[in-house]
Amino acid sequence: MSETGILEGRAGVVTGGSRGLGRAIAEAFTAAGAQVAILDTAGAQDAAAEIGGATLGLTGDVTDAPGIERAFGEVAQQFGRFDFLVNNAGIRAQAPFAEHPLDVWKRTLDVNLTGSFLCAQTAIALMLPRGGGSIVNLASIAGAIALKERAAYNASKGGVIALTQSIAAEMSSSGIRCNAIAPGIVETPLSAPYFRDERMIAAITANTPLGRWGQPHEIAAPAIFLCSPAAEFVHGHTLFVDGGWMAFKGY
Ligand SMILES: NC(=O)c1ccc[n+]([C@@H]2O[C@H](COP(=O)([O-])OP(=O)(O)OC[C@H]3O[C@@H](n4cnc5c(N)ncnc54)[C@H](O)[C@@H]3O)[C@@H](O)[C@H]2O)c1
Repeated sequence: MSETGILEGRAGVVTGGSRGLGRAIAEAFTAAGAQVAILDTAGAQDAAAEIGGATLGLTGDVTDAPGIERAFGEVAQQFGRFDFLVNNAGIRAQAPFAEHPLDVWKRTLDVNLTGSFLCAQTAIALMLPRGGGSIVNLASIAGAIALKERAAYNASKGGVIALTQSIAAEMSSSGIRCNAIAPGIVETPLSAPYFRDERMIAAITANTPLGRWGQPHEIAAPAIFLCSPAAEFVHGHTLFVDGGWMAFKGY
């Protein structure tokens, strides 16, 4: 979905936008008329240059509160407004629960959940004076149904779904909407190891009624929808974009 012009005049940030889903979202938002700033720990300037248009590349870490405040302030100043935030930056580690390293647990929660909290809080401060905005958080099917050996990731994404509802509950009167997208398995650098493992390929196709994994543009399209006027009455919702994974169990 390019939806030319549907985000015309809007500006905001996609975190983790250098590659994968964030990159596809930044490209699609730009094609839909938005001014997009990519914030990433690496590769943001190169990605912004490749996307072109008004795209801005900012180096930053979603867990760094003063850095986020500075970066989002710069976005609002450069674009003259701040209408959307896509909380996309995320990490995932695999470890059996009994041996799950504490530092990995803490870092995963910090980036995926606390980072989303921090970026949302910072964005809301810039949206409030304008009387509106849209926040989209990247959750996962793992936030609603456990994936084995991913305790920290599962817990962080369950937290993202609850965070989405919490923001929506409190921002209702301010014109700021907040929703989440919970992707199934989508082909990106993060999920690349899956596609080298025959057992995983079989499990993914068996668990997905549509019989395949997704592509990044299939997540970008619902993100455009959620930030557009077409979603004015969509608030506090988690949209599963998973080829039917959550709808199916059994045979
Ligand atoms: N790919 C999938 O199958 C899938 C499924 C469900 C949910 N998701 C979620 O979608 C989001 C994007 O996933 P992806 O597959 O594109 O991942 P990816 O690893 O390909 O890209 C993630 C991007 O986030 C950036 N990033 C990581 N930590 C950061 C930090 N602390 N601060 C700023 N940027 C940081 C990385 O540099 C990278 O550019 C994640 O939140 C992920 O959990 C992905």
